Amino acid sequence: MPTSPTQIQLIEPDDWHLHIRDGEIMKDVLRDTARQFARAIIMPNLNPPITTVDLATAYHARIQAQLSALGVDHFTPLMTLYLTDNTCVQEVSKAKAAGIAAFKLYPAGATTNSDSGVSDIKHCYAVLEAMQAVGMPLLVHGEVTHPEVDIFDREAVFIDQVLEPLRKYFPELKVVFEHITTLQAAHYVRDAATGGKNTLAATITPQHLLMNRNAIFAGGIRPHHYCLPVLKREKHRVALLEVASSGNPRFFLGTDSAPHSKGAKETACGCAGCYSAFNALGLYAEAFESVGKLDKLEGFASFFGPDFYSLPRNSKKITLVKRPQKIPMELPLGDSTIVPLRAGQTIAWSLD
Ligand code: DOR
Ligand code: ZN
Repeated sequence: MPTSPTQIQLIEPDDWHLHIRDGEIMKDVLRDTARQFARAIIMPNLNPPITTVDLATAYHARIQAQLSALGVDHFTPLMTLYLTDNTCVQEVSKAKAAGIAAFKLYPAGATTNSDSGVSDIKHCYAVLEAMQAVGMPLLVHGEVTHPEVDIFDREAVFIDQVLEPLRKYFPELKVVFEHITTLQAAHYVRDAATGGKNTLAATITPQHLLMNRNAIFAGGIRPHHYCLPVLKREKHRVALLEVASSGNPRFFLGTDSAPHSKGAKETACGCAGCYSAFNALGLYAEAFESVGKLDKLEGFASFFGPDFYSLPRNSKKITLVKRPQKIPMELPLGDSTIVPLRAGQTIAWSLD
């Protein structure tokens, strides 16, 4: 990949973890993502959640309709199903046949619209067995939700209590540890023995590569820096950036861009989620450049995701340029507005 201080070219990237919601606001967020990415894994945590192939098919049709309305014909949504305590085993083969990309595990109560999530992973063993058999990936929101566990420890405890036992029980199951936020998760994924198989990976968001938990409290409470899993200490950010920019194919791009209106964030009990879709690629470039690893961005953004999902890599090229861009204070979101990550600030990198 040719690298210069002011311009980089890469194969068109994909976003392996994205929330686009539904209805009117979907169009506004799809526009931002489709400008930068060829494909995206679409999260199923709608209200009610996308728990069946039929619901996913209908959701896919609504997405396609919005893409047509935007005049976008080069973006592929990859659909997922929301795992519940009651997911039927038969849904797995149906999903495989329908081209569903993955199932998503939300521990009940972990985050936005996770009330129907899994109360105990053991309830899903028959479904996981079927997923393992057909090579259907499981995407995990890796946090325990017991109220006695400190919010900053939820991910590390999840590794010991849920993920490691799960991977022992289903050694061939393909697992993506989503939006990892800790040194423990980074090192767990880096060091896990997989018998040479492609069974474990992790996505990492731009905010967790660029910020630590001080950013939530800088000069006052900053609701737009609140997401789940919550930002952690600096040593965790450093460990995440280290693995993301190491060229290790187990780590790839997933923004977890999660739109909530300005009003839903700036309130007494604000929603979790950062809206990074507006210039996610520029943010990743900034993170990789900060450690002199811009040459490793293409693998992370464009190669390792499709390789893990056994999908073809994209072929078109895009160019990122180092040209200061002011991020707007607010963007339209249906009949409301949204505050993007870095609102009102100037960022160095953007899409040509
Ligand atoms: O911050 C988050 N927002 N984390 C999640 O896991 C869900 C997401 C959302 O859907 O808003
Ligand atoms: Zn998410």
